[in-house]
Amino acid sequence: MSLLEVRDLKIYYRTPMGPVKAVDGVSFDVREGEVFGIAGESGSGKTTFGKLILRLLTPTSGKILFEGEDITGFGKKRLKTDYYRKVQAVFQDPFASFNPLHEVDRAFDLVFSSFLPEVGAEEREEMINEALRNVGLNPAEVRGKYPHQLSGGQLQRILIARALLVKPKLLIADEAVLMLDASTRIDVLNLLGDFRDRYGTSVLFVTHDLALGYYISDSTIIMYRGTTVEMGDTERVFHNPLHPYTQMLLESVPDINVKWEFKGIEPEKEEGAVYSIQGCRYAPRCPKARDVCFKVRPKLVEVERNHWVACHLYGGE
Ligand SMILES: Nc1ncnc2c1ncn2[C@@H]1O[C@H](COP(=O)(O)OP(=O)(O)O)[C@@H](O)[C@H]1O
Ligand SMILES: [Mg+2]
Repeated sequence: MSLLEVRDLKIYYRTPMGPVKAVDGVSFDVREGEVFGIAGESGSGKTTFGKLILRLLTPTSGKILFEGEDITGFGKKRLKTDYYRKVQAVFQDPFASFNPLHEVDRAFDLVFSSFLPEVGAEEREEMINEALRNVGLNPAEVRGKYPHQLSGGQLQRILIARALLVKPKLLIADEAVLMLDASTRIDVLNLLGDFRDRYGTSVLFVTHDLALGYYISDSTIIMYRGTTVEMGDTERVFHNPLHPYTQMLLESVPDINVKWEFKGIEPEKEEGAVYSIQGCRYAPRCPKARDVCFKVRPKLVEVERNHWVACHLYGGE
């Protein structure tokens, strides 16, 4: 069953250089208990997506259905008391989420006051300890410490412990392992996989690092400048990439099991221009682009089971 259904979602930012169509007609489903990867270069709209699903942004149009209900109409109260108990998030920079003047334990305060006000002091301590042990931390080593006394990996684990304490149905992880060293990265990824297996938590794994996305995701969407270029079953997308953009991305990954950073062409400096393209946004960079590519936006076509591509090479007219 689909936990999250995103339907023709759009958000346009107004800028002096014209509208930035950060998400422009994207649809996908996240099933219960799956890790869903959103991958693409910087500027493709990944973080905007996460913020839309967290309702930190309101879409220009389209629907976001969570457990079948459109969350775009939820008011503050509904979000606070219900939605954020089911949907939690972890971001890129763990240091930014802690007050440097407070002991790290204080990070748990809001979770208890918002979602678990009935829990007494003693039980609360035990719950925090258990949550910390669940993410591979020794409570005695981290509790009572200040952020600067801990590593980035430890802080990120504390934030994951906090996010998972309420046993959310969906965890949004936006470049959540970016600032961790390589071995900690894999540990944290395995941790997310573990939680999925144990509690059926779905994870929306947002990354610009294809190798990490491949490692953890069951399904993957490849985004380019606010649009879907390819999506579906991770194995199919990575082993049989159809879109010239996906092919280019994967060619620049020397070994998919090795850490990889995008080293291709920088996204266009002229923000506005790319969003005024009527057709495929990748056309200006695409070696296979034809006339039609600039004029008509290719439709998403299911080329093989659970493997979709939006490209005129596959009859997306
Ligand atoms: N508040 C904003 N106002 C204007 N443009 C924005 C804003 N936030 C993001 N953008 C633009 O939207 C596009 C997508 O950004 P983002 O979602 O952060 O992409 P990603 O996370 O994939 O790097 C970028 O071109 C970015 O500059
Ligand atoms: Mg981002």
